[in-house]
Amino acid sequence: MEPIRVLITGAAGQIAYSLILQVAKGDVFGSSQPVILHLLDITPMMGVLEGVVMEIEDCALPLVKSVVSTDDLETAFKDIDAAFLVGSMPRKQGMERKDLLSGNVKIFKTQGDALNKYAKKSVKVLIVGNPANTNAFICAKYAPSIPKESITAMTRLDHNRARANIAKRLSVTADKVKNVIIWGNHSSTQFPDIKSAIVNLPQGSTSVYNAIKDENWIKTDFIKTIQARGAAVINARKMSSAMSAAKAAADHMKDIWCGTPFGEYTSMGVMSDGSYGIPKDIVFSFPVTTQNKTWKIVQNLEINDFMRSMLDVTTKELVEEREEALVVCKD
Ligand code: NAD
Ligand code: LMR
Repeated sequence: MEPIRVLITGAAGQIAYSLILQVAKGDVFGSSQPVILHLLDITPMMGVLEGVVMEIEDCALPLVKSVVSTDDLETAFKDIDAAFLVGSMPRKQGMERKDLLSGNVKIFKTQGDALNKYAKKSVKVLIVGNPANTNAFICAKYAPSIPKESITAMTRLDHNRARANIAKRLSVTADKVKNVIIWGNHSSTQFPDIKSAIVNLPQGSTSVYNAIKDENWIKTDFIKTIQARGAAVINARKMSSAMSAAKAAADHMKDIWCGTPFGEYTSMGVMSDGSYGIPKDIVFSFPVTTQNKTWKIVQNLEINDFMRSMLDVTTKELVEEREEALVVCKD
């Protein structure tokens, strides 16, 4: 099988340290798919990156055909088939993710331009760096030759958190909980929604709502816990999530590459097409299914008044972030 070229930016950082191994041992693109790893970081991190490359070699992995480690955009983005754009500043205690916007968004302008110039037109791009939705919007804007559908933002970590939280409450493993939804921004305005979620209990399959039987908990504690989980990890670790973020990035790209399991959907930040009354031209997290390396928004879910009010809040924030990002990128 021909190797594919996979770019990971921020390759000397903490998420990349977990993600590289998952990509390199076949967890994302398949257990028989050889890869050429393209690793990008900034010039002062080249020494650290050298150490990461030594470790990749020492893993003795059969799927890794070669490693390109670089601080040069053209070398990093040349002919790539897939990209994880991670490299950017993480937030510290007390910050919201949108506080990173002015510092990080220009990275995604520059890298959008590099995608446009050097990547394969079929490239699939996952934006991990925060604020992920708005960085994805900017990246797509500066990569006009790449289909907008090919650039997606990561809300899979929130999705996995929601699954795991419900599973813990119902004393089952996370794989038994399906079709939770993260709507909107990867921020504290996101709407974690379990109205369509299903759980496989030993006695049979039922809706999560029926199994939990506590609407007040669902509407308050559950939603708040998922919205604030990133901050809770930062408060405890004094660093932002990395192992779980890398796993979520691998899950997201695997679903793009290999498709979602039959009957299941996931959550992804995608360029809004106006579905569910969400304005076009913001990168909004929707329930999606994937097939043949493309996503489709799950349609016809019922939206009640409570849900609409939650969607409105996160939409407003994304519109504001977009306007701020456009101003920053003009400079
Ligand atoms: P980190 O500080 O450990 O690593 C970031 C790396 O990016 C560093 O090595 C840095 O040198 C590099 N970098 C900075 N600017 C770069 C550029 N222009 N090009 C290439 N590399 C560059 O941070 P981390 O913990 O790996 O987090 C990375 C990003 O991911 C942060 O923005 C964080 O907030 C975000 N994140 C997002 C999610 C999500 O769910 N969407 C989850 C966790 C973290
Ligand atoms: C997360 O959700 O853990 C990451 O986006 C890091 C953060 O800033 O919360």
